[in-house]
Parts: sequence; C-alpha cells; structure tokens
Amino acid sequence: MAEIVFGFGTSHSPLLSTPPDMWHLRVQADKQNPSLEFRGKSYVFDQLVKLRADENLVHQSSLPVRTKRHAACQSSIELLKNKLTKVDPDILIIIGNDQREVFSEDFTPAISMLNGDTVEHSAISPERLKKMPPGIGIAAQGSSAKEDTTYPIDKELSNHILSALNGEGFDITAMKTLEAGPKKRKGMSHAYGFVYNKLMTKTIPAVHICLNTFYPPNQPSAARCVALGEAIGRAVTNYDNNLRVAICGSGGLTHFVIDETFDKKVNEGLKNLDMDILSSLPENYLTSGTSEIKNWITTAAILKGSGLKIDMFDYIPCYRSEAGTGNAMGFMTWE
Ligand SMILES: [Fe+2]
Repeated sequence: MAEIVFGFGTSHSPLLSTPPDMWHLRVQADKQNPSLEFRGKSYVFDQLVKLRADENLVHQSSLPVRTKRHAACQSSIELLKNKLTKVDPDILIIIGNDQREVFSEDFTPAISMLNGDTVEHSAISPERLKKMPPGIGIAAQGSSAKEDTTYPIDKELSNHILSALNGEGFDITAMKTLEAGPKKRKGMSHAYGFVYNKLMTKTIPAVHICLNTFYPPNQPSAARCVALGEAIGRAVTNYDNNLRVAICGSGGLTHFVIDETFDKKVNEGLKNLDMDILSSLPENYLTSGTSEIKNWITTAAILKGSGLKIDMFDYIPCYRSEAGTGNAMGFMTWE
C-alpha cells in the first residue's frame, strides 16, 4: 500500500523572488486596487492606512524589517528544499490553484486534476518579460522554468484518485493536458511552478490537484476542502502500490492584505491538524490571495490520518506598505 511519508506547505508569493528594496514597485498597484480584501470587507489603500494606523505598519514595512524577513523566507525555502531532497519521495501530490493562467472566465472548474503523462514547466520569453507590469517580471521568474521542461505526471495514481473521489461524490474535472484549458497555455500555473523551481532538486513524478480558490461563484468551501482532503488521503492509503508519497500545499497565507490575527487561527488549525478549526474558517475571509489557504486546508486534511506531526513551523509576515499590503508567508512540514 502507498504511504504518506511527508507533508509540507509553502507560500509561493512573488515577493519571495523580489529583492526587498523593490517591494515598493507593487505598492503602486496596491494604491490603484479598488478592492483590497480584509476581514470580509473591501477597501482602498488609504482606508486601510487609517483603519490600521495603530499597528505600527510603517515600521513593519520599512526596508530593514523587509530585508530581515525576506532573508528569513530564503532560509525557510532552503530548509524545505533540503527536507524534500532528504525524504526523496516516489511521488509528490501538489495542491495548488490557478490565477487565470490556465483557466479563464469562460471556463473555471471548481476542482480539476491532470491525468495525462506529462506537464510542462515553461520559461518566460524575453518579449513577455518586457510586457509585464513593474515588479512582476522579476517576481515571475521565481516560479518559471529556466528553460522549457517537461515533467512526469503519475497518471496511474492520478486516475486512481479521480476514480476514488468520483466514488465518494466528488465531481472532478480531468485534464490530459493544460492546453485543454481555454487559454491553451502549455505551462503549469505559478502555484506549481514555484515548487518545481525552488524546492525540487530532482524530478519527482507528481499528481496535480487544482482548486478554484479565487474566483466566485464556484470556489469549494473550507469544509468541502476538508472533506476533499480526507477523501484524497483515503484514496492514497488504499492505493495498492508500494510507494512513498509526499503532499504539498502551495500558496497563502493572508494576502494581498496581511491579517496576522486570522493567520493565527489558521496556523492553530494547521499545527494541530484540527479539522474543526479549518472547516469553520469564514468564507468571506477566504477571498483574493488569502483564498489559497484552501490549498493548505486540503493538504492538512490529507495528512490528518497519516500520523505525521508538525515539525517545521515558520510564519513570516512580509509587509510592503503602511496599509498592511504584502504577503504573510508560511513554510511548514509534517514529518
Ligand atoms: Fe498564488
């Protein structure tokens, strides 16, 4: 039978691949954003500055603090990479999401899986790089391939999970290739690309599970993600094949407005694999980038029955402005 031997969660924010003295390039976009989501409400930049005036965010987003936190993130990424290399699993199941890279408004499956033989990890062409908004080009290289590369999908386990989920009442979209998506895009979304680019030191056959965390109206709820993760966990451990499997949740934690209070609650649920906490997280908080916490919720639910316990627990709020915009980073392992 297959065994779940390792679990981890990683943020994949563009800030991780942007030097801290360039984080301000995205603040311009924050200031133009008409809908910065924070605790179930929508704000503009100046409203958040006023609302959060007593949180010392000018200091928290100052260059010395940014530099220190960016360095802490790089150490965490290095540690995660080394741990994954050491575990050397036969298969890596990645729970991620798409940010209008593969899917468009015309076609947005709530939950989808790849079940072809391979997946592409694409490099960014110099022409595309030139067209990217300020601060995005440098960051996008963090999740892109150095050169176009093809990686193996474990089709057999993917199909086993698809079939098991079908049997448990989950209706999952199956895709032989990402090019079947409306954007005809070849390469994987950044949620996956970051893992391949930053954490994989050797090719690991993978299973890609994609949640529509971001886009209304068909996002799976937190409770649905718990049920999904538990069903995936059962499917993996019932898989009649002697394989060592690792699980990865990619994304989060709160962003593009950081909320340390909410993250504290999320982290308590993750640390203890407490499904009561995770399944009852309020949906109106799990919007925008913060919605990627659902990739972690699903991961935690898969790990729940594995006997693995939290080991590495790094939480690093990376503020880029006095409005509290930025990305709270999480790097965790269950071993
Ligand atoms: Fe993302």
